[in-house]
Amino acid sequence: MKLSPLMRVEPSATVMMNTLALEKKAKGERVFNLAAGEPMVETHPLVIEAAERAMREGKTHYPPVTGIPELRKAAAEWMNSTYDTAYEPRNSIVTCGGKFGIFALCHALLEPGDEVMIPAPYWVSYPGIVRLFSGIPRAIATSESNNWKIAVSDLESLYTPQTKILIMNNASNPTGVLYQKNELAEILSWAQSKNLVIISDEVYSGLVYDNQRYVSCGSFPEFANQTIVIQSCSKHFAMTGWRVGFVFGQPDIIKTLSMLQGQSTTGTSSISQWAALAAIQNAHTIIPSVRAAMQERRDVAARALEKLFGFKPSVPSSSLYLFMSLVRLGMQEKTSEQAALELLEKANIATVPGKAFGQEGYLRFSFGDIPQELEAAIHALAACANMP
Ligand SMILES: Cc1ncc(COP(=O)(O)O)c(C=O)c1O
Repeated sequence: MKLSPLMRVEPSATVMMNTLALEKKAKGERVFNLAAGEPMVETHPLVIEAAERAMREGKTHYPPVTGIPELRKAAAEWMNSTYDTAYEPRNSIVTCGGKFGIFALCHALLEPGDEVMIPAPYWVSYPGIVRLFSGIPRAIATSESNNWKIAVSDLESLYTPQTKILIMNNASNPTGVLYQKNELAEILSWAQSKNLVIISDEVYSGLVYDNQRYVSCGSFPEFANQTIVIQSCSKHFAMTGWRVGFVFGQPDIIKTLSMLQGQSTTGTSSISQWAALAAIQNAHTIIPSVRAAMQERRDVAARALEKLFGFKPSVPSSSLYLFMSLVRLGMQEKTSEQAALELLEKANIATVPGKAFGQEGYLRFSFGDIPQELEAAIHALAACANMP
């Protein structure tokens, strides 16, 4: 079968490592899965009850393509009260996870040869999605010594007349970097001066630690025409499997996404949407409890690394990952792929190589698992590091 050349996109590295880990598990081996990007916490009982109720009440038919009105309204109000935005229900659409929101936006916006600026290290899926719609991803390099942040000068040097979109991922996967209000204002102002669309992926906004404040790109009224925000129930409500995400933006782009969903997914599972409504109605209790659990796990992982490796890892301000240099792990002779495969082979630890995020020389460790598993995994890591 002759496939479209656009299908020459590499499969997601996180999914690949996760699959290798699951294969080992299926053979009966004990595997530490630090590759998966999710909080290993049960979905809240109120959310489960809402899903059960929806099924019993016959809410099992095709949903409205843009999402059930109750959820669109609640999601817009939640954004406004939590992140100081000014969305109405018509500014929102429910998507099959945040990922489909980004996919549909790239479909809607990109023409062949359009360039998309992506700060690196980046979430593994951005370049692949851009390429699927004939766009050209342009990575903006950052460094650990600069806290993995981009500045306007970096954007300026990469900008060309073909640049159409800037993808911001605040809070970030894999680095956990968190931008301050003044930094975002500068970046958004520059993007507006170039007439760029900003896709602000904010799916980790609820997993921000140490009482730091989260600033949404959607909270700047002066940039509202250019800015599209991606949200999701996956991470801060621990609902990855329910596949509920949101796009917030101007009504014209929401209408276009609605047309695309009408010709593709037909919308998100109605049962998941009623469950998501319960999650958002109880956001004030659910998000802090998931956040507290993740902050504790981050600290457990950092303490175990310090004890066994003798260095204090820099802890991320947000998200679910320790993005660690191979030098720190004594594996600097290897590429990140070799290091990840070796850890899986020798120590049964699944991680994701930095190369997949556009950053060689690093590995991503997820701290979403329960503390006992994290400690056991880091013991196995230390034993492996000391092997000849
Ligand atoms: C940065 C980032 N954006 C978006 C997503 C997509 O999340 P979902 O489709 O589950 O909402 C993920 C998932 O790992 C992510 O890490």
